[in-house]
Amino acid sequence: MEKYDVLVIGGGPGGYVAAIKAAQLGKKVACVDNKEFLGGTCLNVGCIPSKSLLNTTHKYHDAKHNFASRGIECENISFSLDKIMETKDLTVSGLGQGIAGLFKKNKIDYFNGLGKFESNNTVSVDLNNGENKLLEADNIIIATGSVPVALPNIQIDEERIITSDGALSLKKVPKKMIVIGAGVIGLELGSVWSRLGADVEVVEFADNILSGFDNDVRKEAKKIFEKQGLIFKLSSKVTSAQIQNDKVEVEVTSVSGDNSEKVECDVVLVAVGRKPNTESLGLDKLGIELDEKGRVIVNGQFKTNIPNIYAIGDVIAGPMLAHKASDEGVVVAEIIDGQHGHVNYDAIPSVVYTHPEIAIVGKTEDELKKNNVEYKIGKFPFLANSRARTSGEIDGFVKIIACKETDQVLGAHIIGDAAGELIAEVAVAMEFKAASEDLARVCNPHPTLNEAIKEASLATYFKPIHL
Ligand code: NAI
Repeated sequence: MEKYDVLVIGGGPGGYVAAIKAAQLGKKVACVDNKEFLGGTCLNVGCIPSKSLLNTTHKYHDAKHNFASRGIECENISFSLDKIMETKDLTVSGLGQGIAGLFKKNKIDYFNGLGKFESNNTVSVDLNNGENKLLEADNIIIATGSVPVALPNIQIDEERIITSDGALSLKKVPKKMIVIGAGVIGLELGSVWSRLGADVEVVEFADNILSGFDNDVRKEAKKIFEKQGLIFKLSSKVTSAQIQNDKVEVEVTSVSGDNSEKVECDVVLVAVGRKPNTESLGLDKLGIELDEKGRVIVNGQFKTNIPNIYAIGDVIAGPMLAHKASDEGVVVAEIIDGQHGHVNYDAIPSVVYTHPEIAIVGKTEDELKKNNVEYKIGKFPFLANSRARTSGEIDGFVKIIACKETDQVLGAHIIGDAAGELIAEVAVAMEFKAASEDLARVCNPHPTLNEAIKEASLATYFKPIHL
């Protein structure tokens, strides 16, 4: 039996980063993962393939609809779905091989298969090649991520009734697609297929899209996405979806129960959230405690109720985000090494990669109100930002929220071109507990989109210059 200092179950952004960090700290490390490539959901069927599709389809959509207004004439623009998918697959395999290379460099043993606890120190791995291997380790990290939530009465076949997995590799563009859930996945993948020509209707239980986001952002986003052609059916749910020949008949019912209608479509995308992936791990045998949502319970040091077993990423509480998992991966390796790492959960950014992008960090107004924190707000529209004007990307705004008493930045909510890149500036500021005045006094190059952050920060404690 192979024996290790650290064994990581799951090779996603949480697990593979934990493995590399532990190896860098001198530990003998193994990682078990059953997916085709290391990189987990993010790389195989999540962030990476979806961003490839979002990027390609945005270029196509932009060329088709916006280039002419800037004097670039290109007629008969068309696309090859096969080539779009091939580009995505090449990105995925390239990055996957990159992680495998990093494992080699750091002398990490990689076992491609499904791991299951045998005891507190041993994990049995059903390798994808049919063999079985028993591994022993002093410390074991559970980093098995999450899987899509299913809906009762709706049978997924990944061809016509699909999760995000299926939506990343459809063989043809559906004429009509119904998306269940106007969250991050529904909007990103709905946008992809809408740009390629599908009629996309999004059915959402709540009374607006993007639950949990800043209310001004939600309002603006809905307006923009509707202009792009997405249709939203809010305060509604899908109560059944039946495959009939090559169509799917979907029953959409209002949350109040007053109305119900049958809609026919080609593909239904179920995007109603994700849940921790713990089912096949054998956690019950060891008595590892889960919370009411099935998440592994850990203490401030990522320890489960069994002291040598840790858990990080989507499988524990907190936002289901790759970068949150990676940060936890670094920290758990440091803790196993006897150091004192920590994750600052108040400054974890989150991005929706639609066009325009939506990016947030820190608190929303609703959260602050709930906690009785008095705050002030500064807003600045991209319409008044010179760089946005030069590129014609004038939709959206930056909104900064700061503490009324101390001026410390408590949150930022950006909807606009490159919002996902811009948010990092505020995340850095928040890490250093900056005030909105600190942000406003940073010298930004001109013309840049970052100047909208400077102006919104100015507006938080005084007045913007360009508005
Ligand atoms: P989500 O939680 O973001 O959105 C799901 C939506 O479905 C919610 O608005 C909810 O109200 C709605 N819903 C639930 N049940 C419904 C029903 N029966 N009928 C109609 N609507 C219903 O979940 P999503 O989009 O599946 O994403 C899962 C996780 O993956 C999220 O935590 C997200 O943060 C993460 N993710 C992050 C990405 C990013 O950072 N860019 C990209 C994709 C996923």
